[in-house]
Amino acid sequence: MKNAHRIGVLTGGGDCPGLNAVIRAVTKAAIYGYNFEVVGFLDGFKGLVENNFRMLDLKAVSGIGHTGGTILGSSNRDNPFRFYRSIDGKETFTDESDVAISNMKELGIDGLIVIGGDGSLHIAQQFFEKGIKVIGVPKTIDNDLSATDVTFGFSTAVATATDAIDKLHTTAESHHRVMILEVMGRYAGWIALHAGLAGGADVILIPEIPYDLNAVANKIIQRREQDKHFSIIVVAEGAKPKDGEMVVQRMVNASHDPVRLGGIGNKLATDIEAVSGIESRVTVLGHLQRGGYPVSYDRIISSRYGTYAVEAFARGAYGTMVSLHGEEIITVPIIEAIESLKQVGPHNQIVHTARLLGIAFGDEI
Ligand code: F6P
Repeated sequence: MKNAHRIGVLTGGGDCPGLNAVIRAVTKAAIYGYNFEVVGFLDGFKGLVENNFRMLDLKAVSGIGHTGGTILGSSNRDNPFRFYRSIDGKETFTDESDVAISNMKELGIDGLIVIGGDGSLHIAQQFFEKGIKVIGVPKTIDNDLSATDVTFGFSTAVATATDAIDKLHTTAESHHRVMILEVMGRYAGWIALHAGLAGGADVILIPEIPYDLNAVANKIIQRREQDKHFSIIVVAEGAKPKDGEMVVQRMVNASHDPVRLGGIGNKLATDIEAVSGIESRVTVLGHLQRGGYPVSYDRIISSRYGTYAVEAFARGAYGTMVSLHGEEIITVPIIEAIESLKQVGPHNQIVHTARLLGIAFGDEI
């Protein structure tokens, strides 16, 4: 006979520094604080549908708080409500949510902690609407979830991008070049904005402020006139010219958002060389931003989110996501976190600061 609560936990979507710190925090708080058992589903929601799991005890989460990746594995294409299978080379999608629910029931799982970004939290919300006791934890390097001040993983991605800018600075200066760094972020410019400011970029291009190529070129020429013969441009993968579109690299049909952005850095280099004749080189930082050790801020916020998620479950705050609000961790309805994307607003104070530091956003000639 089962006498303890048993909670499930999974990591969904693209991986992100801090996932293991959250898994560790959930498991420790469940065991030390409440004597709950913890079941970790493998490879995100896929493990829920395929009943693939491992028990998480104190030993399983020992020594992982500082590590990158996720000990549970993750997937950004396995949605139980639209479950992808390739049958005879043909893509098929079926609703397997009832299979997932009966697997949870069989295992005696009382509730589920979903660690994920907006795709995974959409799925979490759907399970909640089907009666499952769900708590969400906001994950993504993009920092684009509403209803929380910050997602875990973002600070580490910014640190990685800032380090790259520091390194590009020295080689840009040696060769009198324009160096372009393309960073991730999907439809939000948070990584580019924060890393660009921290790294002392000369131009920051983000999706929220479409750029004019001449304005970008003018900034580079202006710097030359000031005897600064190199420039650093940080461009978010979702940035686009005023009269153009975002650059799409590929489509992943089974994914919540099938669009994969990428390639704007190369386009920009070609365009800058064409209008100014100044040699431009591109570095695409890519998945380096998702890998490696979480910085201390992310370890701390992940630990806070994980423990608070268990507390929220214990007090019955189902259908909510843990969220940072000022100095406090609170719970907010998951629906609030996913109903709109958090983008850089027109009056963002960091944009203002950057402008006063002479950083161009490509919108003013
Ligand atoms: O959402 C996180 C993120 O890394 C985005 O910044 C990026 O656009 C996307 O995921 C890349 O996804 P994938 O791992 O499928 O290439």
